Amino acid sequence: MRLASIRFLPSAAVAAALCMAQAAPAIAADAEHGHQLAKQWCTSCHVIDKAGSGTTIDTAPSFPSIAADPQRSDEKRLTAWLSTSHPTMPNFSLARDTIADLVAYIRSLGPR
Ligand code: HEC
Repeated sequence: MRLASIRFLPSAAVAAALCMAQAAPAIAADAEHGHQLAKQWCTSCHVIDKAGSGTTIDTAPSFPSIAADPQRSDEKRLTAWLSTSHPTMPNFSLARDTIADLVAYIRSLGPR
């Protein structure tokens, strides 16, 4: 029993270190996840990729066109846009990390 617990301790430390190492990428925005979300939630009004997937309703800009515009694709501006409700867009109440993923996805379509 003693031996087992001694052996357990170092591996617990390794496991803790691994968890900490994995925490950083988990927090970082995930553009691929953003793409999945965009397919689910945004295609009823926006064209969401360069292949033209989605629907364009008159006033909704396509995501590639947003990404191509340095002003519109500004990270803070996009985050603010998605964090507040907008009269012509349904109020999604998106979680912060969800917004970050969507913003990362839209920005991934641009030149930067
Ligand atoms: C019901 C239709 C609809 C849905 C669904 C929708 N949008 Fe929109 N969105 C619009 C319209 C319309 C505009 C243009 C509003 C305006 O310019 O006043 C817009 C504008 C935007 C803009 C601002 C572009 C700019 O001018 O800078 C962003 C970013 C955006 N949408 C992202 C999203 C994302 C991300 C989703 C999915 C989570 C989404 N939208 C879902 C209708 C929609």
